[in-house]
Amino acid sequence: MRKFGWLMAAAALSAPMVGVAAAGFKLDTRSSSLVFELGADGAWRWPYYGAKVAAAADVLDLEGGPYFDDGLTRYPTYDTYGARYDGDEVEKFGGLAVRHADGYMMTELKALGRAPVELGDEEGVRHWAFPMKDCAHGFFATQHFRADFASDVVETWMEFRNAETAAVELVRMDAFAWSMHRLAKRYRLHSLSSWWGREAQLREAELVPSQALVLDNRNGIHSAWNANPAFMLDIGGDSTEATGEVLGGVLAWSGVWRIGFRLDWKETLSIVAGPDNGNGAYVLDAGRSLKTPVFAFTWSRQGRGQVSRNFHRWARHRWLPHRTAPREVLLNSWEGSYLTFKEQTLTDMMDGVAEMGGEMFVLDDGWFGEGEFARDHDVPQDISGLAANNQGGKCDAGLGDWVVNRRKLPRGLEYLTAAAAKRGLKFGLWVEPEMANFKSRLLTEHPEFATQIPNRENVYGRGGTQNVLDFANPKVVDAIFRQLDAIYSIPGLAYVKWDANANFFNPGSLYLGAGRQGNLWFDYATGVQDLLERLRQAHPEIVTQACSSGGGRMEYGFLRYCDEAWVSDITDARERVFMQWGASQFYPASVLAAHVTARENHATRRVISLKFRFDVAMSGRLGFELRPVDLSREEVEFARRCVADYKRLRPVIQGGDLYRLKSPYDSNYSSLMFVSEDQTQAVVFVYGLNRSPLRDFVANVRPAGLDPAKRYRIREINRWGQDAPHVVCDGKVVGGDALMNAGFEPLLANRDYDSCVLELTAQ
Ligand code: DGJ
Repeated sequence: MRKFGWLMAAAALSAPMVGVAAAGFKLDTRSSSLVFELGADGAWRWPYYGAKVAAAADVLDLEGGPYFDDGLTRYPTYDTYGARYDGDEVEKFGGLAVRHADGYMMTELKALGRAPVELGDEEGVRHWAFPMKDCAHGFFATQHFRADFASDVVETWMEFRNAETAAVELVRMDAFAWSMHRLAKRYRLHSLSSWWGREAQLREAELVPSQALVLDNRNGIHSAWNANPAFMLDIGGDSTEATGEVLGGVLAWSGVWRIGFRLDWKETLSIVAGPDNGNGAYVLDAGRSLKTPVFAFTWSRQGRGQVSRNFHRWARHRWLPHRTAPREVLLNSWEGSYLTFKEQTLTDMMDGVAEMGGEMFVLDDGWFGEGEFARDHDVPQDISGLAANNQGGKCDAGLGDWVVNRRKLPRGLEYLTAAAAKRGLKFGLWVEPEMANFKSRLLTEHPEFATQIPNRENVYGRGGTQNVLDFANPKVVDAIFRQLDAIYSIPGLAYVKWDANANFFNPGSLYLGAGRQGNLWFDYATGVQDLLERLRQAHPEIVTQACSSGGGRMEYGFLRYCDEAWVSDITDARERVFMQWGASQFYPASVLAAHVTARENHATRRVISLKFRFDVAMSGRLGFELRPVDLSREEVEFARRCVADYKRLRPVIQGGDLYRLKSPYDSNYSSLMFVSEDQTQAVVFVYGLNRSPLRDFVANVRPAGLDPAKRYRIREINRWGQDAPHVVCDGKVVGGDALMNAGFEPLLANRDYDSCVLELTAQ
């Protein structure tokens, strides 16, 4: 095991390797192999990624053909502007493009060393580094591959070091830039499009030769809007949930980003993923290094369902801060009280959630700001209609001042944490650390902390006074860290909801100065990461939710520091069936915060039964967002049973394998299920949507992922009152083989939004 460091690379390996003999190197996961070789031109090549092979040399022996005659068309492990493509053309699609200190742009990365450097890592993970150097400049790059054996997910990223005589400009700086000679004749892309209220909508598109397809986000705050930084690429073009060859990728980055796909004229597939520098090149000073975000990818021949399960396992075992720890059933105050509350409003909610068996109370927006800067203003409780989400001109003070608002909460947060503890509840708090109102002490004392552009009229967001803080400036990170550190230290605080409700209204940084404005987009995101990391180090026990005007931060960049994401401000259970289905392509159920809200939804005004609302929320991280006093006794009793069952089944739902059985995109009902890793327990959800009695016949639901040799007792849970069971097999013990092959017919009523939940227990 050798440790790699820049110093060692520079001192011992400063001469690029040219003219060495080809050798194959194989990095394996449970079901896949990546084969690398050192090309005769001294560059690392990546000729194979797919099903597991026994010998790297066999793959290399099989290579060749009409397009391989010049020996250069085995594609590099990482494309650069300067690498030869098609033998004689310069690569211009993605990867790295550097304006070197001498002003010229070509970069040809050659290996430093003849073998990948093996780095020590966690057990079950193999980590290789490929140190490289441009052959004409003092510009170093190291490519990392970190393979998690059990989940089949490989993380990759780049590190660059400028050892030139002056600053260089990174025009492109992707984490991943990969080309592969014809794997198939068709490729179909599956991705998520998102906006406020319409998060995680599944989209499909065919790749077409000579065209590029780009998923991107230049918002900078809502990093999961427009598109989510995640995709599946169907190799062959006809994958299903259970069949077909699929490549999946996720970019863990909360700044601006771009993921591009290109099929060139000879049908070579190229994929690039990384920060987007379209708003300005990144200036990297001499002597400085830069690490790109992580791009994680996986491959399966068992369809898109397996790709999802791979990402879910990786997230649970390698990525999320609290890994597999059970996530609590909580009540968040937002839809119950918005900004209008006093102590008793909150303690009443605590009473309600405690009675229903919940485990935590979370106080949302409105608890902070002092004196003239207190967050006191009301917001309309009806947010139906898109425009109203900005709460029309209210919420205009306090952001930036993370001190309690004594007008609303005279006894402080300590009183509330104690009140929660008295009821056996943990306590959580909302913050929006990246933004500040100019009506705040922070910006009154430090106007330079806000992003702004001199000599221009700046514009403001929510409330007409909100701006984005300049997280490129380390002093801003320090100032917000100090304030939050004090809040996070309040005894009894267990959870933080991290919100961000703004766009880059005024994309300028006084700190970066005139010559570095292009760095704002990357440095802002790394500044926020720095703050999150410092808080995590100081308060490792605190669980954080990534929220950004709903699901604007449901991505793995933020999920490095947060255990869950708020999927959407739209809590309407019908809409959530679609959004959670989309989000589940990449994110495990433990990440998907799903709350049971009021009978009439605050955004859509749709009225849906409490049972359906529970059945949908229980397929994610269950919570509430309502005033429990509005529930009838019968509803409270029902909720108690649902919560108790959820807590019992939580290890399966939050920690099991997901099988999507019936897509809501295909018909008017939907079904999905979770199976424990040892296949002894499973939970099946079936949702009827907008159904018509004469049209919408339900096909048998055929569970998946069970052990065919085991027998399972079937029990319907979440039954409402005296309603008849939804399956004739309720209470029976049936073989896993019969369940998976014959399936059962759910007796969904001929009306909208009937649903059922079945528990399967191996006997
Ligand atoms: C937007 C979030 O998505 C909501 O859940 C809520 O926290 C509001 N912000 C509070 O301002």
